[in-house]
Amino acid sequence: MSAAKSLLRLREDAKSCQRCDLWRTGTQTVFGEGPARAEILLIGEQPGDMEDIQGRPFVGPAGRLLDHALAEAGIDRKRVYLTNVVKHFKWTPRGKRRLHSKPNQGEITACRFWLDAELAAVKPRIIVCLGATAAQALLGKSFRVTQHRGEPVPSPLAPLVLATVHPSSLLRAPDPETRRTERARFVRDLAAARKLLE
Ligand code: URA
Repeated sequence: MSAAKSLLRLREDAKSCQRCDLWRTGTQTVFGEGPARAEILLIGEQPGDMEDIQGRPFVGPAGRLLDHALAEAGIDRKRVYLTNVVKHFKWTPRGKRRLHSKPNQGEITACRFWLDAELAAVKPRIIVCLGATAAQALLGKSFRVTQHRGEPVPSPLAPLVLATVHPSSLLRAPDPETRRTERARFVRDLAAARKLLE
């Protein structure tokens, strides 16, 4: 079966996923998206509030930041496959708002089925893990993004695997100066990933 067909089938099957309990509170499964034969595959943690509503990954504030950073790094979002370690939004109520809540190991393990299937279909040349949840799910619990960001890490998952921070961490930067410098580092990490493909 072609990669595009397998992804279509997976996306369809994932709609009714009940491998963990997050389907009970999430609006819908937010499956990965992008070209079936993308050379670069980016992995985030889980969909946020907007992603949950729209059913697409990285369409909220972190996604907008990611889009701009990718463009600055010379990467066209349309040529990248974007997905998440966990495919339902996990949240806790705070008044009328739904606050992001970190997925636990059981949820990450249950959802790994889909991620592994996406990786097997897309067969990217490079995987970029965005943030600690993705990096530790793929590279092991002891992996520290702060120590090894932007460095290629040997992995059976793809010829090149590296990790950088999650774009939402930039949105939480304590002041504009930190945000500017951290954003520039993030763009540099993405550009380094692109250069590895040359
Ligand atoms: N954060 C993520 O990790 N993934 C998304 O899709 C959106 C925000």
